[in-house]
Amino acid sequence: MKILVTYWSQTGNTKKVAEAIFQALTCDREIRPFDSVDSLNGTDLVFIGFPIMQFGPPAAARKLVNELAEGKRIALFVTHAMPSQSDDPLQKAMLEKELQKCRALCAKTEFLGLYHCQGELSEKTAGELISSGIPMLASFAEMRTRTIGHPDQTELAEAGMFARSITETLKG
Ligand SMILES: Cc1cc2nc3c(=O)[nH]c(=O)nc-3n(C[C@H](O)[C@H](O)[C@H](O)COP(=O)(O)O)c2cc1C
Repeated sequence: MKILVTYWSQTGNTKKVAEAIFQALTCDREIRPFDSVDSLNGTDLVFIGFPIMQFGPPAAARKLVNELAEGKRIALFVTHAMPSQSDDPLQKAMLEKELQKCRALCAKTEFLGLYHCQGELSEKTAGELISSGIPMLASFAEMRTRTIGHPDQTELAEAGMFARSITETLKG
């Protein structure tokens, strides 16, 4: 089985998850950022990773999936500032809505699953969100301290397990 792990990452969080997935796989595999991928032909499975930006998949992810992934076997991995587990029903609903947009993006692919975890908001990013003028984005910036250290070792190990479970399903 030939697998491609491809990612888009501004501050390195999603890249860490991509590397954890790549390391966890033992078959014929490659890891590449989006900008060096111009075709998904010749791969049996593609792991596509990106951060949530402005409440959904960023333009780079929409472009890659819409232009290259139709009919392909895809699994997603996504990082975001919101905590993966929250007691706040509003926060939970908002994250679920964002993840749903990511799944919906893959409607024309053979979609196999999604892994997601929190990713640290850098100080610079928090500053940019505050000055965006969008109140909801500015409120993410206030969460910065609670994002520090993510993805952590547990989340990276979970990402690896997710990737192995996807490949096991295909072998089975
Ligand atoms: C412009 C911008 C918009 C963002 N919007 C959201 C968002 O809507 N929801 C969210 O949970 N996180 C949001 N984030 C946080 C990132 O998704 C998170 O920090 C992610 O781990 C960054 O990944 P990267 O290091 O791979 O770039 C946003 C970050 C930026 C820079």
